[in-house]
Amino acid sequence: MKALVLSGGSGTRLRPFSHSMPKQLIPIANKPVLEHVLENIRDLGVTEVGIIVGDWAPEIADVVGDGSRLGIRVTYIPQEAPLGLAHCVTLARPFLGDDDFVMYLGDNMLPEGVREVAESFRTRQPAAEVVVHRVPDPRAFGVAELGPDGTVERLVEKPREPRSDLALIGVYFFTPAIHEAVAAIEPSARGELEITDAIQWLVTRGAEVRATEYRGYWKDTGQAGDVLECNQTLLAGLTPGVLGSVDDASLLDGRVRIEPGARVTRSRIDGPAVIGAGTVIEDCHIGPDTSIGAGCVLRNTRVRDSIVMDGAEISGVPGLRYSLIGRNAVVGTGPTGDACHSLVVGDHTRIEVAA
Ligand code: G1P
Repeated sequence: MKALVLSGGSGTRLRPFSHSMPKQLIPIANKPVLEHVLENIRDLGVTEVGIIVGDWAPEIADVVGDGSRLGIRVTYIPQEAPLGLAHCVTLARPFLGDDDFVMYLGDNMLPEGVREVAESFRTRQPAAEVVVHRVPDPRAFGVAELGPDGTVERLVEKPREPRSDLALIGVYFFTPAIHEAVAAIEPSARGELEITDAIQWLVTRGAEVRATEYRGYWKDTGQAGDVLECNQTLLAGLTPGVLGSVDDASLLDGRVRIEPGARVTRSRIDGPAVIGAGTVIEDCHIGPDTSIGAGCVLRNTRVRDSIVMDGAEISGVPGLRYSLIGRNAVVGTGPTGDACHSLVVGDHTRIEVAA
């Protein structure tokens, strides 16, 4: 079996980050979403991975490379315009050949993995098997209607009146039967070739399509709030350890990980929290539920429930919460006086100051 990971897409809901990095590289517990995805795939024993990439191809290749660091072999497949998930399958045909494959959206987090679904697909060999998850409002998703034995009877993309609460959550197992289906469908109202329509095409023609419910934690990391929530969830399973240095005047409480080369001085860190490699923390109170990336400098700052990305510098900020601080961002105090803020704010940035 091969894997096809979709990492094109622009991710406008994650602005301003999507101006400077692909959403798939947003760090969750200090590891890019895409890397979490690729590890899940490797855990299925799948090592041949095609990644569909758009404008951010160089940035993605910088992080993932040839995949050897992650124990996989990566082939990059360029997509010039986001014409739909089924279009990606067409583009990937030369890479996929006539192999079975798992298709995985590169911004979906299923930390508990999909081994059970892969097992079901391998033993029963349906034409396709989709992963579904119960959601309170399925209208933003592909929605599956199942028969009593887990067979898919109907799939509808973003129905206005959903007939079940089982949403497609971005992981699909396919046999080569899908290729005929993607070639047969027409673009949807939003102008995209929908994978949901291609799978429905198989159902209509009597092919066996199955669904397995994923009962673990799932998140589409499409928006800042989702990213922070997902970070909190993953940090709860963090492997604690002090690989950097912590002075005697500092206190670590709970699940805390200090990466190599990080230096913690006169600070308190409440877990779950991770401090990235080479980062300097002085006179701070960090955490809980906080990831600080690599190469950051934080001084005299209180931060919790937040993500601070690589190379950021924060000083003299007494209260940061529910914040996403981008790479190499600088947040600090200045000579403005009179409790004024001085901001250099990029496009689509969002700032909420304490009332
Ligand atoms: C896509 C699929 C949809 C699926 C969703 C999962 O939607 O078309 O069926 O439920 O991913 O995240 P999109 O994110 O393109 O709107």
